[in-house]
Amino acid sequence: MERIDTIAIYGGGGHGKVVADIAASNGFGSILWIDDAPKEEAVGLEEFIASTPDIPVALGIGNNLHREKSFQRLTDAGLKVISLVHPSAIISESAVIERGAVVMPGAVINAEAVVKEGAIINSAAVIEHDCVIGRFAHISPNCALGGDVKVGERTHIGIGASVIQCLSIGPDVKVGAGAAVIHNLPGSIMAAGVPAVIKKEFR
Ligand SMILES: CC(C)(COP(=O)(O)OP(=O)(O)OC[C@H]1O[C@@H](n2cnc3c(N)ncnc32)[C@H](O)[C@@H]1OP(=O)(O)O)[C@@H](O)C(=O)NCCC(=O)NCCS
Repeated sequence: MERIDTIAIYGGGGHGKVVADIAASNGFGSILWIDDAPKEEAVGLEEFIASTPDIPVALGIGNNLHREKSFQRLTDAGLKVISLVHPSAIISESAVIERGAVVMPGAVINAEAVVKEGAIINSAAVIEHDCVIGRFAHISPNCALGGDVKVGERTHIGIGASVIQCLSIGPDVKVGAGAAVIHNLPGSIMAAGVPAVIKKEFR
C-alpha cells in the first residue's frame, strides 16, 4: 500500500530538492515546504512553528550557519527534526547518524563513524571508520576522508577533496574543491590545493 506520510522540509533551494528526493525514497508521500521567502506552496518558519504540527522536519538548507540556526529554532520549539539517509548509501551498523543529518545517494559511512547533528554527507562521499563529522559540517560530493578524521562544526569540505587518516580539521573551516589535506588544520581558515595550504584566516 502506498504510504502518504508527510514530512516538512525547511529550505526550498537546490539542496532542499535533493533532500525531498531522499524523503520520497524513504516513503514520505507528501512534502510541506518551509521557506524564508514563502511562495504559494511554502509556509514561513514562524508560521510553521506556531502551528506546531505533529510531523517530522528535515533540514534542506545548504548554508552551514543558517542550517544550525534553523535547527536550534525548530528544536527550541519542541519540533521533531529527523535525519534522512538515501537507500543507496552504505552505512555501517556501528556508525551513528544524529538527528538533522542528511546522507545523500551513494555515500559510504564506515564502522564507528559519527555524523553529528545537522551535518550533510553529500553524494558519493566516503567517510572511513572512526571519523567524527561535527555538527552542521558539510562533506561535499565525492570527498574521501580516511579513518579517524575529525571535522569541526560548520566546516565545509569542498567537492572532491581528500583528507588522509587521523587528521583533525577545526570548526568553521573551508577546504577547497579538489584539495588534498595532509596536515591538521586549525579553525576559521580556508585551505586549498594539493597538498592543501592555508590561504585565508577568518579571525
Ligand atoms: C575554497 C573556496 C571556498 C574559496 O573561495 P574564496 O574564499 O572565494 O577564495 P578565492 O577565490 O578568493 O581564492 C583565494 C585563493 O585560493 C585559491 N583557490 C580557491 N579555491 C581553490 C581550490 N579549490 N583549489 C586550489 N586553489 C584554490 C585561489 O586561486 C586564490 O589563490 P591566489 O590567492 O593565489 O590567487 C572555493 O574556491 C571552493 O573551492 N569552494 C568549494 C565549493 C564546493 O565544493 N561546492 C560544492 C558544494 S555541494
